[in-house]
Amino acid sequence: MKNKTLAKDAWGSRLGLILAMAGNAVGLGNFLRFPVQAVQNGGGAFIIPYLVCFLILGIPLLFIEWSSGRFGGKFGNHSTPFILDTMGKGRIWKYIGVFGIFTNIAVVAYYTYIESWSLSYVLHSLMGTFEGMSQSQVAQFFDNYISISSSTTGIPFEPVVIYILVLILNVYILSKGLGGIEKAAKIGMPLLILFGIILAVKSLTLGESGRSVQFPDASAWDGLNFLWTPQYDSLLNPKVWLAAAGQIFFTLSVGMGTIQCYASYLKANDDVALNSVSAGFMNEFVEVVLGSAIVIPIAAGFLGLDWVLENAGFGMAFQTMPFLFQQWGTVMATFSGVFWFGLLFFAGITSSLAMGTPWMGFMKDEFGWGMKRGAWSFGLLALIMGLPTVLFYQQGFFDEYDYWGGTVSLVIFALLESILFSWVFGINKGWQEIMEGADIHVPIIFKFIIKYVTPLMLLLVFIGALVTPQGNDWTTNIQNLLSGNTWQLDSSSIIRKLSHFELTNQLAVSNTPLKREIIEDKIFYSNFARIQLVTLFLFIALLVYYANSRRTKLFTK
Ligand code: PHE
Repeated sequence: MKNKTLAKDAWGSRLGLILAMAGNAVGLGNFLRFPVQAVQNGGGAFIIPYLVCFLILGIPLLFIEWSSGRFGGKFGNHSTPFILDTMGKGRIWKYIGVFGIFTNIAVVAYYTYIESWSLSYVLHSLMGTFEGMSQSQVAQFFDNYISISSSTTGIPFEPVVIYILVLILNVYILSKGLGGIEKAAKIGMPLLILFGIILAVKSLTLGESGRSVQFPDASAWDGLNFLWTPQYDSLLNPKVWLAAAGQIFFTLSVGMGTIQCYASYLKANDDVALNSVSAGFMNEFVEVVLGSAIVIPIAAGFLGLDWVLENAGFGMAFQTMPFLFQQWGTVMATFSGVFWFGLLFFAGITSSLAMGTPWMGFMKDEFGWGMKRGAWSFGLLALIMGLPTVLFYQQGFFDEYDYWGGTVSLVIFALLESILFSWVFGINKGWQEIMEGADIHVPIIFKFIIKYVTPLMLLLVFIGALVTPQGNDWTTNIQNLLSGNTWQLDSSSIIRKLSHFELTNQLAVSNTPLKREIIEDKIFYSNFARIQLVTLFLFIALLVYYANSRRTKLFTK
Protein backbone atom coordinates (compact mmCIF):
# COMPACT_ATOMS: atom_id res chain seq x y z
CA MET A 1 0.00 0.00 0.00
CA LYS A 2 2.68 2.45 1.07
CA ASN A 3 4.86 1.45 -1.86
CA LYS A 4 2.08 2.02 -4.29
CA THR A 5 1.78 5.70 -3.42
CA LEU A 6 5.55 6.03 -3.47
CA ALA A 7 5.80 4.55 -6.94
CA LYS A 8 3.77 7.44 -8.29
CA ASP A 9 6.49 9.96 -7.54
CA ALA A 10 8.78 10.21 -10.53
CA TRP A 11 10.17 12.84 -12.83
CA GLY A 12 7.94 13.71 -15.76
CA SER A 13 10.62 13.86 -18.45
CA ARG A 14 14.35 13.87 -18.92
CA LEU A 15 14.33 17.55 -19.76
CA GLY A 16 12.30 18.23 -16.64
CA LEU A 17 14.75 16.23 -14.57
CA ILE A 18 17.83 18.00 -15.95
CA LEU A 19 16.28 21.42 -15.54
CA ALA A 20 15.21 20.59 -12.01
CA MET A 21 18.67 19.31 -11.16
CA ALA A 22 20.31 22.31 -12.79
CA GLY A 23 17.81 24.55 -11.02
CA ASN A 24 18.79 22.89 -7.79
CA ALA A 25 22.46 23.59 -8.43
CA VAL A 26 22.21 27.02 -10.04
CA GLY A 27 21.36 29.37 -7.26
CA LEU A 28 22.31 32.42 -5.28
CA GLY A 29 25.62 30.68 -4.79
CA ASN A 30 26.48 31.21 -8.45
CA PHE A 31 25.81 34.93 -8.51
CA LEU A 32 26.43 36.12 -4.97
CA ARG A 33 28.57 33.62 -3.11
CA PHE A 34 31.01 32.76 -5.89
CA PRO A 35 32.14 36.33 -6.58
CA VAL A 36 32.51 37.03 -2.87
CA GLN A 37 34.49 33.86 -2.21
CA ALA A 38 36.69 34.63 -5.18
CA VAL A 39 37.33 38.18 -4.02
CA GLN A 40 37.97 37.22 -0.41
CA ASN A 41 40.41 34.51 -1.42
CA GLY A 42 42.57 36.54 -3.72
CA GLY A 43 40.75 36.48 -7.07
CA GLY A 44 43.02 34.61 -9.46
CA ALA A 45 44.43 32.80 -6.44
CA PHE A 46 41.06 31.20 -5.91
CA ILE A 47 40.37 30.03 -9.44
CA ILE A 48 42.90 27.17 -9.65
CA PRO A 49 41.92 25.46 -6.40
CA TYR A 50 38.32 26.04 -7.45
CA LEU A 51 38.70 24.31 -10.82
CA VAL A 52 40.77 21.50 -9.35
CA CYS A 53 38.08 20.96 -6.73
CA PHE A 54 35.46 20.83 -9.48
CA LEU A 55 37.31 18.02 -11.24
CA ILE A 56 38.44 15.90 -8.34
CA LEU A 57 35.68 16.59 -5.85
CA GLY A 58 32.69 18.01 -7.68
CA ILE A 59 32.32 15.56 -10.56
CA PRO A 60 33.13 12.45 -8.49
CA LEU A 61 30.66 13.52 -5.82
CA LEU A 62 28.02 14.11 -8.45
CA PHE A 63 28.52 10.54 -9.64
CA ILE A 64 28.44 9.24 -6.08
CA GLU A 65 25.33 11.14 -5.10
CA TRP A 66 23.31 10.54 -8.24
CA SER A 67 24.02 6.83 -8.18
CA SER A 68 23.50 6.47 -4.42
CA GLY A 69 20.20 8.29 -4.75
CA ARG A 70 18.96 6.11 -7.57
CA PHE A 71 20.14 3.05 -5.65
CA GLY A 72 18.27 4.10 -2.49
CA GLY A 73 15.17 4.86 -4.52
CA LYS A 74 15.00 1.23 -5.63
CA PHE A 75 14.30 0.37 -2.00
CA GLY A 76 11.80 3.16 -1.52
CA ASN A 77 14.24 5.45 0.33
CA HIS A 78 14.26 9.11 -0.61
CA SER A 79 16.48 10.76 1.97
CA THR A 80 20.03 10.11 3.08
CA PRO A 81 19.47 8.45 6.49
CA PHE A 82 18.02 5.33 4.94
CA ILE A 83 19.76 5.65 1.59
CA LEU A 84 23.07 5.39 3.42
CA ASP A 85 21.60 2.67 5.59
CA THR A 86 20.93 0.46 2.57
CA MET A 87 24.48 1.00 1.36
CA GLY A 88 26.38 0.28 4.55
CA LYS A 89 25.12 -2.07 7.13
CA GLY A 90 26.53 -0.44 10.26
CA ARG A 91 23.92 1.35 12.33
CA ILE A 92 25.97 4.54 12.35
CA TRP A 93 25.28 5.35 8.69
CA LYS A 94 21.71 6.35 9.16
CA TYR A 95 22.82 8.91 11.73
CA ILE A 96 25.46 10.22 9.40
CA GLY A 97 22.62 10.51 6.92
CA VAL A 98 21.00 13.00 9.29
CA PHE A 99 23.35 15.58 7.76
CA GLY A 100 21.50 15.19 4.47
CA ILE A 101 18.31 16.57 5.96
CA PHE A 102 19.88 18.86 8.53
CA THR A 103 22.03 20.95 6.17
CA ASN A 104 19.09 21.54 3.88
CA ILE A 105 17.02 23.04 6.64
CA ALA A 106 19.94 25.00 8.09
CA VAL A 107 20.80 26.43 4.69
CA VAL A 108 17.25 27.08 3.54
CA ALA A 109 16.71 29.20 6.65
CA TYR A 110 19.15 31.90 5.58
CA TYR A 111 18.93 31.16 1.89
CA THR A 112 15.28 32.08 1.62
CA TYR A 113 16.10 35.30 3.43
CA ILE A 114 18.36 36.39 0.57
CA GLU A 115 15.77 35.08 -1.84
CA SER A 116 13.32 37.43 -0.18
CA TRP A 117 15.71 40.38 -0.61
CA SER A 118 15.75 39.71 -4.31
CA LEU A 119 11.98 39.56 -4.53
CA SER A 120 11.69 42.77 -2.60
CA TYR A 121 14.28 44.43 -4.84
CA VAL A 122 12.35 43.37 -7.94
CA LEU A 123 9.37 45.21 -6.51
CA HIS A 124 11.43 48.26 -5.56
CA SER A 125 12.99 48.36 -9.02
CA LEU A 126 9.52 48.37 -10.55
CA MET A 127 8.35 51.04 -8.11
CA GLY A 128 11.31 53.23 -9.00
CA THR A 129 12.46 53.40 -5.38
CA PHE A 130 16.09 53.75 -6.36
CA GLU A 131 15.58 56.57 -8.85
CA GLY A 132 17.84 59.50 -8.15
CA MET A 133 19.49 57.87 -5.14
CA SER A 134 23.20 58.32 -4.61
CA GLN A 135 25.49 55.35 -4.04
CA SER A 136 25.44 55.92 -0.31
CA GLN A 137 21.65 56.24 -0.28
CA VAL A 138 21.32 52.91 -2.06
CA ALA A 139 23.71 51.34 0.44
CA GLN A 140 21.80 52.97 3.28
CA PHE A 141 18.55 51.61 1.92
CA PHE A 142 19.95 48.12 2.23
CA ASP A 143 21.33 48.74 5.71
CA ASN A 144 17.96 50.03 6.83
CA TYR A 145 16.28 47.07 5.27
CA ILE A 146 18.27 44.57 7.28
CA SER A 147 18.49 46.39 10.59
CA ILE A 148 15.88 46.34 13.28
CA SER A 149 16.93 49.46 15.10
CA SER A 150 16.30 51.83 12.22
CA SER A 151 12.72 50.71 11.91
CA THR A 152 10.26 52.74 13.92
CA THR A 153 8.16 49.83 15.10
CA GLY A 154 11.16 47.91 16.36
CA ILE A 155 10.22 45.17 13.97
CA PRO A 156 11.57 45.12 10.44
CA PHE A 157 8.16 44.87 8.98
CA GLU A 158 8.90 44.59 5.30
CA PRO A 159 11.77 42.07 5.51
CA VAL A 160 9.77 39.81 7.77
CA VAL A 161 6.63 39.98 5.66
CA ILE A 162 8.43 39.32 2.41
CA TYR A 163 10.48 36.56 4.01
CA ILE A 164 7.34 34.79 5.14
CA LEU A 165 5.76 35.35 1.75
CA VAL A 166 8.71 33.68 0.08
CA LEU A 167 8.49 30.75 2.48
CA ILE A 168 4.80 30.37 1.72
CA LEU A 169 5.50 30.42 -2.01
CA ASN A 170 8.08 27.68 -1.55
CA VAL A 171 5.69 25.63 0.54
CA TYR A 172 2.94 26.08 -2.01
CA ILE A 173 5.06 24.86 -4.91
CA LEU A 174 6.47 22.01 -2.83
CA SER A 175 3.00 20.86 -1.91
CA LYS A 176 2.43 20.19 -5.62
CA GLY A 177 5.18 17.58 -5.54
CA LEU A 178 7.83 16.94 -8.16
CA GLY A 179 5.55 18.30 -10.88
CA GLY A 180 5.56 21.71 -9.20
CA ILE A 181 9.33 21.71 -8.98
CA GLU A 182 9.66 20.75 -12.64
CA LYS A 183 7.32 23.50 -13.68
CA ALA A 184 9.19 26.10 -11.62
CA ALA A 185 12.46 24.97 -13.21
CA LYS A 186 11.05 25.04 -16.73
CA ILE A 187 9.97 28.64 -16.27
CA GLY A 188 12.80 29.87 -14.06
CA MET A 189 15.86 28.39 -15.73
CA PRO A 190 15.46 29.73 -19.28
CA LEU A 191 14.55 33.19 -17.99
CA LEU A 192 17.49 33.19 -15.64
CA ILE A 193 19.91 32.32 -18.40
CA LEU A 194 18.42 34.92 -20.71
CA PHE A 195 18.63 37.66 -18.05
CA GLY A 196 22.14 36.54 -17.17
CA ILE A 197 23.36 36.78 -20.75
CA ILE A 198 21.86 40.23 -21.22
CA LEU A 199 23.52 41.53 -18.05
CA ALA A 200 26.84 39.87 -18.81
CA VAL A 201 26.92 41.51 -22.24
CA LYS A 202 26.09 44.87 -20.66
CA SER A 203 28.88 44.32 -18.17
CA LEU A 204 31.49 43.20 -20.64
CA THR A 205 30.88 46.22 -22.83
CA LEU A 206 31.11 48.62 -19.91
CA GLY A 207 34.89 48.96 -19.96
CA GLU A 208 35.96 52.28 -18.52
CA SER A 209 32.81 54.19 -19.39
CA GLY A 210 31.48 54.02 -15.84
CA ARG A 211 34.17 56.30 -14.37
CA SER A 212 33.09 59.29 -12.34
CA VAL A 213 34.81 62.19 -10.63
CA GLN A 214 34.67 60.28 -7.42
CA PHE A 215 36.08 57.09 -8.94
CA PRO A 216 38.32 58.21 -11.79
CA ASP A 217 40.18 54.89 -12.02
CA ALA A 218 37.20 52.58 -12.23
CA SER A 219 37.31 49.93 -14.93
CA ALA A 220 35.25 46.80 -15.50
CA TRP A 221 38.36 45.14 -16.91
CA ASP A 222 40.11 45.40 -13.56
CA GLY A 223 37.38 43.27 -12.08
CA LEU A 224 37.80 40.60 -14.72
CA ASN A 225 41.57 40.65 -14.60
CA PHE A 226 41.52 40.32 -10.86
CA LEU A 227 39.38 37.20 -11.12
CA TRP A 228 41.15 35.63 -14.04
CA THR A 229 44.86 36.21 -13.44
CA PRO A 230 45.99 32.98 -11.81
CA GLN A 231 48.26 33.21 -8.78
CA TYR A 232 50.06 30.10 -7.75
CA ASP A 233 51.12 30.98 -4.23
CA SER A 234 47.67 30.20 -2.89
CA LEU A 235 48.05 26.54 -3.77
CA LEU A 236 49.65 25.90 -0.39
CA ASN A 237 47.05 27.78 1.57
CA PRO A 238 44.45 25.43 3.10
CA LYS A 239 42.12 28.28 3.87
CA VAL A 240 41.80 28.93 0.14
CA TRP A 241 41.31 25.22 -0.49
CA LEU A 242 38.59 24.99 2.12
CA ALA A 243 36.90 28.00 0.61
CA ALA A 244 37.23 26.55 -2.91
CA ALA A 245 35.96 23.13 -1.87
CA GLY A 246 33.20 24.78 0.14
CA GLN A 247 32.14 26.81 -2.87
CA ILE A 248 32.18 23.79 -5.19
CA PHE A 249 29.98 21.92 -2.74
CA PHE A 250 27.64 24.78 -2.20
CA THR A 251 27.23 25.59 -5.86
CA LEU A 252 26.82 22.01 -7.06
CA SER A 253 24.62 21.25 -4.05
CA VAL A 254 26.80 18.26 -3.17
CA GLY A 255 27.43 17.14 0.38
CA MET A 256 23.89 18.24 1.15
CA GLY A 257 21.70 15.20 0.51
CA THR A 258 19.59 17.13 -1.97
CA ILE A 259 20.91 15.41 -5.08
CA GLN A 260 20.43 11.96 -3.56
CA CYS A 261 16.84 12.88 -2.90
CA TYR A 262 16.18 14.12 -6.45
CA ALA A 263 17.98 11.09 -7.90
CA SER A 264 15.95 8.69 -5.78
CA TYR A 265 12.98 9.50 -8.00
CA LEU A 266 14.78 8.18 -11.08
CA LYS A 267 13.79 4.88 -12.59
CA ALA A 268 16.10 1.95 -11.92
CA ASN A 269 17.84 2.05 -15.28
CA ASP A 270 17.70 5.78 -16.00
CA ASP A 271 21.07 7.23 -16.90
CA VAL A 272 23.02 8.96 -14.14
CA ALA A 273 26.42 9.39 -15.77
CA LEU A 274 25.44 11.80 -18.54
CA ASN A 275 22.68 13.53 -16.63
CA SER A 276 24.87 14.33 -13.65
CA VAL A 277 27.68 15.71 -15.77
CA SER A 278 25.25 17.77 -17.87
CA ALA A 279 23.65 19.36 -14.84
CA GLY A 280 27.10 19.93 -13.32
CA PHE A 281 28.52 21.63 -16.39
CA MET A 282 25.42 23.73 -16.82
CA ASN A 283 25.96 24.97 -13.29
CA GLU A 284 29.62 25.74 -13.95
CA PHE A 285 28.74 27.66 -17.09
CA VAL A 286 26.32 29.81 -15.14
CA GLU A 287 28.78 30.29 -12.29
CA VAL A 288 32.09 30.77 -14.01
CA VAL A 289 30.90 32.49 -17.17
CA LEU A 290 27.80 34.41 -16.11
CA GLY A 291 28.36 34.61 -12.35
CA SER A 292 31.79 36.14 -12.66
CA ALA A 293 30.77 38.53 -15.43
CA ILE A 294 28.14 40.53 -13.60
CA VAL A 295 28.61 41.87 -10.06
CA ILE A 296 32.37 42.21 -9.88
CA PRO A 297 33.03 43.80 -13.28
CA ILE A 298 30.03 46.12 -13.05
CA ALA A 299 30.91 47.19 -9.51
CA ALA A 300 34.58 47.58 -10.44
CA GLY A 301 33.53 49.50 -13.55
CA PHE A 302 31.74 52.15 -11.54
CA LEU A 303 33.43 52.09 -8.15
CA GLY A 304 36.88 50.70 -8.82
CA LEU A 305 38.41 47.43 -7.79
CA ASP A 306 39.64 48.68 -4.42
CA TRP A 307 36.15 49.51 -3.37
CA VAL A 308 35.02 46.03 -4.41
CA LEU A 309 37.79 44.38 -2.42
CA GLU A 310 36.88 46.31 0.68
CA ASN A 311 33.17 45.77 0.48
CA ALA A 312 32.81 42.17 -0.70
CA GLY A 313 29.96 40.35 1.01
CA PHE A 314 26.59 38.77 0.39
CA GLY A 315 24.94 42.16 0.53
CA MET A 316 27.31 43.83 -1.92
CA ALA A 317 25.12 43.20 -4.94
CA PHE A 318 22.17 44.76 -3.15
CA GLN A 319 24.15 47.75 -1.92
CA THR A 320 25.53 48.61 -5.33
CA MET A 321 23.65 47.24 -8.31
CA PRO A 322 20.54 49.43 -8.08
CA PHE A 323 22.73 52.53 -8.05
CA LEU A 324 24.92 51.31 -10.88
CA PHE A 325 21.87 50.49 -13.00
CA GLN A 326 20.66 54.06 -12.54
CA GLN A 327 23.67 55.23 -14.49
CA TRP A 328 22.16 53.60 -17.56
CA GLY A 329 19.07 55.82 -17.52
CA THR A 330 15.69 55.31 -15.91
CA VAL A 331 14.17 52.86 -18.37
CA MET A 332 17.23 50.67 -18.62
CA ALA A 333 17.60 50.88 -14.85
CA THR A 334 14.14 49.46 -14.31
CA PHE A 335 14.73 46.68 -16.80
CA SER A 336 18.16 45.85 -15.42
CA GLY A 337 16.85 45.86 -11.88
CA VAL A 338 14.06 43.49 -12.78
CA PHE A 339 16.41 41.28 -14.80
CA TRP A 340 19.06 41.11 -12.13
CA PHE A 341 16.90 40.67 -9.05
CA GLY A 342 14.48 38.50 -11.02
CA LEU A 343 17.39 36.32 -12.04
CA LEU A 344 18.45 36.03 -8.41
CA PHE A 345 14.95 35.18 -7.38
CA PHE A 346 14.56 32.41 -9.96
CA ALA A 347 18.01 31.08 -9.16
CA GLY A 348 17.11 31.11 -5.49
CA ILE A 349 13.70 29.55 -5.59
CA THR A 350 14.63 26.58 -7.77
CA SER A 351 17.32 25.83 -5.17
CA SER A 352 15.31 26.41 -2.02
CA LEU A 353 12.61 24.11 -3.39
CA ALA A 354 15.25 21.40 -3.67
CA MET A 355 16.17 21.88 -0.03
CA GLY A 356 12.63 21.03 0.98
CA THR A 357 12.58 17.65 -0.67
CA PRO A 358 14.80 15.54 1.65
CA TRP A 359 12.67 16.39 4.66
CA MET A 360 9.44 15.73 2.76
CA GLY A 361 10.77 12.48 1.31
CA PHE A 362 11.84 11.33 4.76
CA MET A 363 8.53 12.13 6.44
CA LYS A 364 6.67 10.43 3.63
CA ASP A 365 8.80 7.29 3.60
CA GLU A 366 8.82 6.86 7.35
CA PHE A 367 5.60 8.36 8.63
CA GLY A 368 3.39 8.40 5.55
CA TRP A 369 3.10 12.20 5.52
CA GLY A 370 1.53 13.56 2.34
CA MET A 371 2.87 16.39 0.21
CA LYS A 372 0.87 19.08 1.96
CA ARG A 373 1.83 18.10 5.44
CA GLY A 374 5.43 17.58 4.41
CA ALA A 375 5.62 20.96 2.74
CA TRP A 376 3.99 22.92 5.56
CA SER A 377 6.04 21.27 8.26
CA PHE A 378 9.14 22.06 6.24
CA GLY A 379 8.03 25.67 6.01
CA LEU A 380 7.53 25.77 9.75
CA LEU A 381 11.00 24.37 10.45
CA ALA A 382 12.52 26.83 8.01
CA LEU A 383 10.69 29.65 9.77
CA ILE A 384 11.84 28.63 13.24
CA MET A 385 15.40 28.34 12.05
CA GLY A 386 15.22 31.34 9.75
CA LEU A 387 13.43 34.05 11.69
CA PRO A 388 16.49 34.76 13.85
CA THR A 389 18.60 35.17 10.71
CA VAL A 390 16.15 37.87 9.66
CA LEU A 391 16.06 39.56 13.04
CA PHE A 392 19.73 39.23 13.98
CA TYR A 393 21.35 39.39 10.59
CA GLN A 394 23.71 42.14 11.66
CA GLN A 395 24.85 40.32 14.76
CA GLY A 396 26.33 37.59 12.60
CA PHE A 397 23.60 35.01 13.05
CA PHE A 398 23.43 34.51 9.33
CA ASP A 399 27.17 34.01 8.90
CA GLU A 400 27.19 31.42 11.62
CA TYR A 401 24.65 29.31 9.71
CA ASP A 402 26.58 29.76 6.49
CA TYR A 403 29.85 28.69 8.07
CA TRP A 404 28.69 25.64 10.03
CA GLY A 405 25.62 24.61 8.05
CA GLY A 406 26.63 25.77 4.58
CA THR A 407 30.37 25.01 4.59
CA VAL A 408 31.81 22.78 7.32
CA SER A 409 28.91 20.30 7.37
CA LEU A 410 29.09 19.78 3.63
CA VAL A 411 32.75 18.83 3.78
CA ILE A 412 32.18 16.42 6.67
CA PHE A 413 29.23 14.75 5.02
CA ALA A 414 30.94 14.51 1.64
CA LEU A 415 33.98 12.92 3.27
CA LEU A 416 31.89 10.33 5.05
CA GLU A 417 29.72 9.49 2.08
CA SER A 418 32.70 9.09 -0.22
CA ILE A 419 34.24 6.65 2.27
CA LEU A 420 30.95 4.79 2.44
CA PHE A 421 30.63 4.60 -1.32
CA SER A 422 34.14 3.40 -2.15
CA TRP A 423 35.17 1.50 0.93
CA VAL A 424 32.05 0.17 2.61
CA PHE A 425 29.58 -0.26 -0.21
CA GLY A 426 32.64 -1.04 -2.34
CA ILE A 427 34.00 0.78 -5.38
CA ASN A 428 33.25 -2.12 -7.71
CA LYS A 429 29.61 -2.16 -6.82
CA GLY A 430 29.62 1.61 -6.82
CA TRP A 431 31.16 1.82 -10.26
CA GLN A 432 28.58 -0.63 -11.52
CA GLU A 433 25.86 1.62 -10.16
CA ILE A 434 27.33 4.62 -11.98
CA MET A 435 27.63 2.71 -15.26
CA GLU A 436 24.22 1.10 -15.13
CA GLY A 437 22.04 2.63 -17.85
CA ALA A 438 24.82 5.14 -18.59
CA ASP A 439 24.52 7.09 -21.83
CA ILE A 440 28.19 7.99 -21.86
CA HIS A 441 31.33 6.08 -21.19
CA VAL A 442 32.90 7.49 -18.04
CA PRO A 443 36.72 7.33 -18.25
CA ILE A 444 37.96 4.58 -15.99
CA ILE A 445 40.33 7.01 -14.27
CA PHE A 446 37.32 8.26 -12.35
CA LYS A 447 37.10 4.90 -10.65
CA PHE A 448 40.54 5.56 -9.24
CA ILE A 449 39.75 9.18 -8.42
CA ILE A 450 36.53 8.25 -6.63
CA LYS A 451 38.24 5.55 -4.62
CA TYR A 452 41.44 7.33 -3.57
CA VAL A 453 41.71 10.94 -4.62
CA THR A 454 38.33 12.27 -3.58
CA PRO A 455 38.28 10.89 -0.01
CA LEU A 456 41.95 11.75 0.53
CA MET A 457 41.46 15.25 -0.75
CA LEU A 458 38.40 15.70 1.41
CA LEU A 459 40.33 14.48 4.40
CA LEU A 460 43.17 16.90 3.72
CA VAL A 461 40.82 19.80 3.24
CA PHE A 462 39.06 18.97 6.45
CA ILE A 463 42.18 18.51 8.55
CA GLY A 464 43.77 21.56 6.99
CA ALA A 465 40.79 23.62 8.00
CA LEU A 466 40.47 22.05 11.42
CA VAL A 467 43.98 22.87 12.59
CA THR A 468 45.10 25.64 10.26
CA PRO A 469 48.38 26.93 11.72
CA GLN A 470 48.96 30.53 12.57
CA GLY A 471 49.38 32.72 9.54
CA ASN A 472 48.66 29.67 7.40
CA ASP A 473 52.35 28.96 7.63
CA TRP A 474 52.62 25.19 7.57
CA THR A 475 56.37 24.93 7.13
CA THR A 476 57.29 27.02 10.15
CA ASN A 477 54.68 25.37 12.31
CA ILE A 478 55.73 21.87 11.40
CA GLN A 479 59.35 22.78 12.13
CA ASN A 480 58.27 24.27 15.44
CA LEU A 481 56.36 21.16 16.28
CA LEU A 482 59.35 18.97 15.46
CA SER A 483 61.57 21.02 17.69
CA GLY A 484 59.23 20.47 20.60
CA ASN A 485 57.08 23.60 20.50
CA THR A 486 53.32 23.61 20.43
CA TRP A 487 51.19 23.96 17.32
CA GLN A 488 49.95 27.53 16.94
CA LEU A 489 46.44 27.63 15.57
CA ASP A 490 45.23 30.34 13.24
CA SER A 491 42.04 32.16 14.16
CA SER A 492 40.49 30.95 10.89
CA SER A 493 40.88 27.30 11.97
CA ILE A 494 37.71 25.41 12.82
CA ILE A 495 38.96 24.80 16.35
CA ARG A 496 39.58 28.48 17.00
CA LYS A 497 36.27 29.42 15.44
CA LEU A 498 34.59 27.00 17.76
CA SER A 499 35.94 28.83 20.78
CA HIS A 500 35.23 32.34 19.41
CA PHE A 501 38.94 32.98 19.65
CA GLU A 502 39.01 36.06 17.48
CA LEU A 503 35.99 37.69 19.08
CA THR A 504 37.29 37.00 22.57
CA ASN A 505 40.58 38.59 21.62
CA GLN A 506 38.85 41.62 20.22
CA LEU A 507 36.88 41.87 23.39
CA ALA A 508 40.06 41.91 25.45
CA VAL A 509 41.49 44.87 23.57
CA SER A 510 38.37 46.94 22.99
CA ASN A 511 38.28 49.86 25.31
CA THR A 512 34.87 51.44 24.90
CA PRO A 513 31.67 50.00 26.38
CA LEU A 514 29.97 50.35 23.00
CA LYS A 515 32.58 48.26 21.23
CA ARG A 516 32.46 45.69 23.98
CA GLU A 517 28.73 45.51 23.73
CA ILE A 518 28.83 44.91 19.98
CA ILE A 519 31.31 42.07 20.38
CA GLU A 520 29.49 40.56 23.33
CA ASP A 521 26.33 40.64 21.23
CA LYS A 522 28.10 38.83 18.43
CA ILE A 523 29.28 36.10 20.76
CA PHE A 524 25.84 35.77 22.24
CA TYR A 525 24.11 35.50 18.89
CA SER A 526 26.59 33.11 17.42
CA ASN A 527 26.08 30.83 20.42
CA PHE A 528 22.37 31.20 19.93
CA ALA A 529 22.77 30.18 16.28
CA ARG A 530 24.84 27.17 17.28
CA ILE A 531 22.25 26.04 19.79
CA GLN A 532 19.61 26.24 17.08
CA LEU A 533 21.78 24.18 14.74
CA VAL A 534 22.61 21.52 17.30
CA THR A 535 18.99 21.25 18.37
CA LEU A 536 17.91 20.80 14.78
CA PHE A 537 20.45 18.09 14.24
CA LEU A 538 19.40 16.23 17.37
CA PHE A 539 15.75 16.57 16.50
CA ILE A 540 16.27 14.93 13.12
CA ALA A 541 18.50 12.25 14.66
CA LEU A 542 15.70 11.49 17.09
CA LEU A 543 13.24 11.12 14.22
CA VAL A 544 15.64 8.76 12.51
CA TYR A 545 15.96 6.75 15.69
CA TYR A 546 12.21 6.56 16.02
CA ALA A 547 11.73 5.69 12.35
CA ASN A 548 14.29 2.97 12.67
CA SER A 549 12.63 1.37 15.65
CA ARG A 550 9.34 1.45 13.79
CA ARG A 551 11.01 -0.28 10.89
CA THR A 552 12.45 -3.02 13.09
CA LYS A 553 9.10 -3.54 14.76
CA LEU A 554 7.32 -3.89 11.42
CA PHE A 555 10.03 -6.23 10.31
CA THR A 556 9.88 -8.56 13.32
CA LYS A 557 6.10 -8.66 13.41
N1 PHE B 1 23.55 25.14 -5.18
C1 PHE B 1 22.76 26.19 -4.67
C2 PHE B 1 23.42 27.51 -4.99
O1 PHE B 1 24.40 27.58 -5.68
C3 PHE B 1 22.55 26.08 -3.21
C4 PHE B 1 21.99 24.78 -2.78
C5 PHE B 1 22.65 24.06 -1.87
C6 PHE B 1 20.81 24.29 -3.29
C7 PHE B 1 22.15 22.85 -1.47
C8 PHE B 1 20.31 23.08 -2.89
C9 PHE B 1 20.98 22.38 -1.96
O2 PHE B 1 22.97 28.54 -4.58
